[in-house]
Amino acid sequence: MSDALNRGLEDAVVAETRLSSIDGERGELRIAGYDVADLAPNATYEEVLFLLLNDRLPDADELAALREDLAGRRDLPDETHGVLRAAAEEGEPAMAALRMAAAAGSLGHEGEDPDLDARRMVAALPTAVAAYWRYRQGEDAVAPREDLRHAANYLYMLTGEEPDPADVRGLETYLNAVVDHGFNASTFTARTVVSTESDVVSAVTAAIGALKGPLHGGAPGPVLDMLDEIRDAGDPAATIREKLEAGERLMGFGHRVYDVRDPRAAVLSGAAEGVYDADDPFLDLATEVEDIAVDLLAEYKPGRNLETNVEFYTAVLLRGVGIPRELFSTTFAVGRVAGWGAHCLEQLDDNRLVRPRARYVGATDREWTPLDDR
Ligand code: ACO
Repeated sequence: MSDALNRGLEDAVVAETRLSSIDGERGELRIAGYDVADLAPNATYEEVLFLLLNDRLPDADELAALREDLAGRRDLPDETHGVLRAAAEEGEPAMAALRMAAAAGSLGHEGEDPDLDARRMVAALPTAVAAYWRYRQGEDAVAPREDLRHAANYLYMLTGEEPDPADVRGLETYLNAVVDHGFNASTFTARTVVSTESDVVSAVTAAIGALKGPLHGGAPGPVLDMLDEIRDAGDPAATIREKLEAGERLMGFGHRVYDVRDPRAAVLSGAAEGVYDADDPFLDLATEVEDIAVDLLAEYKPGRNLETNVEFYTAVLLRGVGIPRELFSTTFAVGRVAGWGAHCLEQLDDNRLVRPRARYVGATDREWTPLDDR
């Protein structure tokens, strides 16, 4: 048995998956075989969910059935609304509120059926995020509408207004683009939880906990803060250089698995073009900042291949769609939950308990000392 240490499990292959594949050198991401650049801007979120669950695209009847199924599962029990209202009143961050609401997701149906639980969590998460946000604004939650598609209904519940079709397309492209991404920390967490034959609600709750950390799903808010700062300072090149001179990290750049530009950056910047009005200079500013940042990162961190990651244009796109920055990470969860659910089912299909080992580096040969002698 090897005692070689692999901190962070970098490059360790621990399972097989048919859900997504990543080529970090060529900058390619495929979702169940489809290039993300082809799938994300064209598919509805429901089609992508069906693809992950069934390994093929649905026909019209199957799609209609899935839409109806999800739409019928959007309502949350009063108890969950109570948790969300309390979290909002306490000023809890959105990801903490979502984790609490997700944990209540099994109320009334503990561990019923993994497939059903996966769809239930996909349907419930947008309602939870939107309700939290409404309570944070001191408003009532907006009840979900069954006639709207998944992405459109999320926007509707956030604002209470009929969503703009261009914003819906932008949001849906985003949700599709982030739906799955190999064995990232939250996905691995979800699979680890169900590997004990625990339930999907527990797995999704734990995955939200993992996504909450700033090294995983927390960057798009800070990207927007950085872009605002650069815009307000008036000289992008000088501000970016100052940040690098001060040893700061540029938000939205660098990635553990990509040596080139994250393929989702192209998908999301393309989608952003569809949601920004011609008189809003923000998208042009972002493009300028990206060009300058990539050049300066090559100068300050030679050989590191620090390119644009998914979070950079996530921030730009979601701002354009009108999602408040406090909800960027929870909106990431709203997209990723279909991937988590599908991974749970894949894990359960061919399960092996996840149980790595640690190298012990603590004290040895100690002998018990009674309390009075210490
Ligand atoms: N800005 C400036 N320098 C950077 C950046 C950055 N964004 N990213 C990495 N570096 C530098 C590090 O300082 C380090 O330099 P050094 O060797 O001279 O000390 C070198 O590049 C390698 O950095 P690591 O932290 O080892 O790279 P790792 O692969 O662990 O980090 C990460 C990846 C966390 C994404 C990192 O690039 C980062 O912090 N980026 C900024 C935050 C961000 O955009 N996060 C979202 C990631 S996308 C996602 O997770 C969905």
